[in-house]
Amino acid sequence: MKILSVASEAYPLIKTGGLADVVGALPPALARRGIEMRVLLPGYGSVMTKLQGAPSEVVFEYDSLLGVPARLLSTRTDELDLIVLDAPGLYHRSGGPYVDAAGMDHGDNWHRFGALARAGADICAGILEGFRPDVVHAHDWQAGLLPAYLRYSAIACPSVMTIHNIAFQGHFSAAVLGGLHLPPHAMALDGVEYHGGVGYLKAGLANASAITTVSPTYAEEIRTPAFGMGLEGLINSRAAVLSGIVNGIDTDVWNPETDAILPRTYSAGDLSARRANRREIETRFQLDEDDDPLFIVVSRLTTQKGIDLLAEVTGDLVAEGAKLAVLGTGDTWLEDGFAGAAARHRGRVGVVIGYDEGLSHTMQGGADGILIPSRFEPCGLTQLYGLRYGCVPIVARTGGLADTVIDANSAALNAGVATGVQFLPVDAPGLRYAIKQAVRLYRQPGTWAGLQANGMGADVSWDRSAGLYADLYKSLLPVAGQPA
Ligand code: ADP
Ligand code: GLC
Repeated sequence: MKILSVASEAYPLIKTGGLADVVGALPPALARRGIEMRVLLPGYGSVMTKLQGAPSEVVFEYDSLLGVPARLLSTRTDELDLIVLDAPGLYHRSGGPYVDAAGMDHGDNWHRFGALARAGADICAGILEGFRPDVVHAHDWQAGLLPAYLRYSAIACPSVMTIHNIAFQGHFSAAVLGGLHLPPHAMALDGVEYHGGVGYLKAGLANASAITTVSPTYAEEIRTPAFGMGLEGLINSRAAVLSGIVNGIDTDVWNPETDAILPRTYSAGDLSARRANRREIETRFQLDEDDDPLFIVVSRLTTQKGIDLLAEVTGDLVAEGAKLAVLGTGDTWLEDGFAGAAARHRGRVGVVIGYDEGLSHTMQGGADGILIPSRFEPCGLTQLYGLRYGCVPIVARTGGLADTVIDANSAALNAGVATGVQFLPVDAPGLRYAIKQAVRLYRQPGTWAGLQANGMGADVSWDRSAGLYADLYKSLLPVAGQPA
């Protein structure tokens, strides 16, 4: 079976969040099941630079892809078989994949990601020699138009639309329809029309053969107004093809026994080397060197992630005798808030504003617990890294956090299965209580060691979920003798 995965990010080439980790980790996991997955990715300037030196071949040239010259390059990294959409007019520019250097959305994102979806649909139609996918897998709004292109170009290829985060929907004015080369009748309720404009994620949800999201709990949550962000009606109408498949992590990249980024590696049998990693965190974050509970945050600093709630209870965390190290970037008021907290609580609260993949590994490899107070969390990956590294997750009971962490309530403790702390409601008192609970458990060394051991023993790999994706793809293949 051949699958085309279409996304705007893929680790290790370009990453702003968990989407990249998932898109980068799924292909090797599927390869182990004999499924060939190739990834179609925009050729951002930074991606082209990273790929310099990798063997690459032009496999298709467009005179005009939605009005711009473009070509498709076939290339690979150690683990990924890639098709790169090289269209410098769309993708070579300063800033990130979605925003310019000033943090504003690129004004032509409709075009940049419309072209990505169009190229994906063309590949499904068979423009590449030797690779015609049996199923196409589109990720988030950036690939959302793909199922619509399949429909309006009458290309017979089953499609899966995965929602990683419904908060980002790709909503543009109706004026872009012509530039997307979609027919006027696509502007319909069951087409791409959304609140009078063009909705990319909406188009994908309305037209895909199957819809998935990244945890079973989130798949239920997005059917409600509180989490569906306006799309709950459409999602409910397609509930028969909706499922939730929890993310795994790349257990080779994230392996405390071999992680070359860690000052000291360690295994579940002996966590004593974590202490050296902890000292490294304390140095980087200018925290007191002691054995008081050390909690970390590695996150986008936004209200989705409940970071404002943490800002509210930082003083209480310190009063409990704990320390906090925050790594992240995001909303300025939250960045400033933590800088202020670090100044007020010298030695107890430390902040690094920035994106630092290496530091995130050291933090997971040395801290006692990771705080994830998200208001909503489709899956979340940092709790999975925490489990794998013996950094106990303290999480809001929502989405994938609810599905991957076993709360240390007395039943779970008695049964010896707890892996972390969950809290509800997701508000400041809830988080305050969870921190208090975590500190209490930390002060019972045997109990805490049990949480760490259970977490490190949990299966956070892609094995099981790759099997669920494989089953889903298979279920979409046309049955011999029946029309597709
Ligand atoms: P989301 O995709 O919503 O941001 P996830 O938990 O799925 O949340 O994924 C976030 C990913 O980004 C994780 O791999 C996490 O380690 C990483 N990450 C987030 N912020 C930072 C940062 N400031 N520095 C390094 N890695 C970060
Ligand atoms: C999104 C979600 C996050 C999820 C990630 C990968 O960014 O916010 O919860 O883990 O996608 O699926």
